[in-house]
Amino acid sequence: MATPAFITIAVDGGAASGKSTTCRNLAKRFHLLHVDTGSHYRTITLALLRANIAPDDTAAIEVALNPSAADTSITTGTLLCGNSARLTINGTAPDAADLRSPAVNAAVSPFAAVPAVRHFLFAYQRSQVATARTHGFHGLIMEGRDIGSVILPDAHLRIFLEADPAARAARRAAEGGIDSIVTRDQTDSSRSTAPLLCPPGAIRIDNTHVPLASVVDQIAALIDAARAAL
Ligand code: CDP
Repeated sequence: MATPAFITIAVDGGAASGKSTTCRNLAKRFHLLHVDTGSHYRTITLALLRANIAPDDTAAIEVALNPSAADTSITTGTLLCGNSARLTINGTAPDAADLRSPAVNAAVSPFAAVPAVRHFLFAYQRSQVATARTHGFHGLIMEGRDIGSVILPDAHLRIFLEADPAARAARRAAEGGIDSIVTRDQTDSSRSTAPLLCPPGAIRIDNTHVPLASVVDQIAALIDAARAAL
């Protein structure tokens, strides 16, 4: 069978809106590279917290993330784990439990609102398209808050997932996380650089009352249709 045309898919949405589960499933089904950009912000947050830098200390953040500052230089890399690409900082990808700790949950949105943090990740995130091609994936599925609006505005398919805050809070609590998702959404939506929004032309899918397996099937049909048009 011929290799299908390479496809790029952007999936955005608020906290605990089902992005990761949906994207992981679709990545396996279509042999796509899955990139969770929320984990990138969590990785940077962890590194800055460990360096005792606060989100409002923009001067210290800029120095820490400046690639030409020899004494503090942070180098990024990619670790492939099956269909997932994980960001490494100075050669190490932090544990998932550390990335989802209450401290990181509380600090990640304030750090993600700092332009220097977003600037630091911009080229790296875009470079994941080439990583997916190099490693023979049939496409890339990238999730976040600004993927369809800023990182991959020309993606073949752009999806915006949403669900009632109560349903999302219940999901997060069921995962055992301590997380103020409404506060994070407010910070993410109101920041001036790359706010959380449904970009014009993206397909909105509300999954408050829909099982995630049905959402996966719905997006799978959209992928098939988008591919047929390539
Ligand atoms: O898993 P959950 O949906 O709760 O959050 P996440 O996707 O891990 O994202 C954590 C935080 O990273 C978000 O609340 C945003 O502040 C930030 N983020 C962002 O600003 N832009 C992105 N493209 C992805 C995440």
